[in-house]
Amino acid sequence: MGPPEQQPEFPEYEWAEVPDDQRVISASLVECNWLQTLEGDIDTAHVSFLHRPLDTRKALKWARFVDSFADYVAKDRSPSLTVKATEYGFVYGGRRVGGEEDFYWRFSHWIAPSTSETPGSQERPGRIVVPIDDDNSMSFSFVWHPHRALSAEEAIANGRNNGQLLEPWRLADGYVIDARRSPLNRDNDFRIDRHVQRTKRYSGIIGTPPEEDRAMTETMEPVLDRSKEHLGTSDVAIIAMRRRLIKMARDIEQGVEPALAKQPWAFRTRGFDVVSTNGDFDTVLAEHQDEVTPRRAAP
Ligand SMILES: [Fe+2]
Repeated sequence: MGPPEQQPEFPEYEWAEVPDDQRVISASLVECNWLQTLEGDIDTAHVSFLHRPLDTRKALKWARFVDSFADYVAKDRSPSLTVKATEYGFVYGGRRVGGEEDFYWRFSHWIAPSTSETPGSQERPGRIVVPIDDDNSMSFSFVWHPHRALSAEEAIANGRNNGQLLEPWRLADGYVIDARRSPLNRDNDFRIDRHVQRTKRYSGIIGTPPEEDRAMTETMEPVLDRSKEHLGTSDVAIIAMRRRLIKMARDIEQGVEPALAKQPWAFRTRGFDVVSTNGDFDTVLAEHQDEVTPRRAAP
């Protein structure tokens, strides 16, 4: 699209460069505004609630994350967030306090304008949200392992959309598109089960984390009136993203192209989680820089 002299180089996303057997990609319809669902993807605080089993002793082991993940997120539900602006958007760390000398760190990225990469210490997940219209978007999920082929279990667990067929989906203006729509959706209240909610899972939804995510971001209305919200300290990453997007929009109005379009190497990022005895964001990030931004040298 656009004039040839303005075409950017292809972003050097690591997930796009690994062999096929090291990644899984899927796409699904999200029935709300693209930025509303992206804000949910970027938020790290909600894992302590929305995706939490009520009894962590019965929690499935989430192989993607560090051991004791479920204990950490259940114990500290108010992570302290630190955002560091980067050329591609930002990386931020969510720090949870474990015991006296251990912190659970979750490093997430926002890659402007619409990509999020969330933590994992094995396979790494991310999503790119593309607007369809104001009230609908398409979420492309990717999961990759930087160093080895995904196991059959990992591939199946991350490829939930594989069995869903493309079906016609009518937009508000009458235009019909093909989309994969989850069987758990607004029409059936995401099949919420109040007994499960009382006894097993905080959400009461027997589905995947993306389905729990959509239950929150879709049912608040396709475009929530943000003048009525009250952001808090757990929202500093979302605040930073909104400010950067507004600045980018104003720059474009003035004819200033995003520098990121000419920096394909800047896209080499990975979400990352780690337990550390260090509680200082900059120190922990520096210790794991190669894991969080596995860059080739910039030209
Ligand atoms: Fe989530």
